[in-house]
Amino acid sequence: AGSEIEIYKRMAARRAADLVEDGMTVGLGTGSTAKYMIERLGERVAEGLRIEAIPTSIDSAEKAVKAGIKLTDFSKHRVLDIAIDGADEVQRGTLHLVKGLGGALLREKIVAQSAKRFVVIVDNRKPVDHLGERAPIPVEVVFFGWECTAERLMECGAVVAKPRMDSHGHHYITDNGNLILDCVFGLIDDAEKLQQRIGSIVGVVEHGMFLNMTNEVFVAMDHGVERWER
Ligand code: A5P
Repeated sequence: AGSEIEIYKRMAARRAADLVEDGMTVGLGTGSTAKYMIERLGERVAEGLRIEAIPTSIDSAEKAVKAGIKLTDFSKHRVLDIAIDGADEVQRGTLHLVKGLGGALLREKIVAQSAKRFVVIVDNRKPVDHLGERAPIPVEVVFFGWECTAERLMECGAVVAKPRMDSHGHHYITDNGNLILDCVFGLIDDAEKLQQRIGSIVGVVEHGMFLNMTNEVFVAMDHGVERWER
């Protein structure tokens, strides 16, 4: 079953990568699905496609360079033609997302927001009816006072708000030098309201709910890749 999921991820990733056209500036997502999209874009660049890309993590920057993709940054471009990224949950209908299990949510949200078209690539494990169904909500917070910030998140309804740890038992540190608090809210009924409350907590840098940002989703499943539009 493990390798089947890899095939699904690759199918969705290739469909999205094939939307990219010559001359575009492209936001490159992060994670195990985005990896296949970067590889596919690399193949297309080798065939002559000319693009410039802004990666959403140090990891994706390295993968892009290896794939032969030219990188750029926000000093040169304020608007991207397209951004393509994975997700941890996609809500059916609204296409609201939960992202950040890979830790890159802040840069991912900046890139998604600056893209004319934000395309999400997932396998069939990711669609949900309610956000919070299969993943915690990752919240990036500054280190100073994180214990207080965690308490404020519990006041917003989190039953768990614990710092993510790395494989050595140390606090996981994001590319931006912050912590991630993985917050369990249970099934989220009113994501807009929760986002407002979380956003007003001092110490929170950004959270992993991506509301009203996705233009389309490619969902790979056994009968092929479905394209969902908002
Ligand atoms: C990275 O921070 C995340 O938002 C990823 O986009 C998300 O975790 C999806 O990753 P996978 O494609 O590896 O499941």
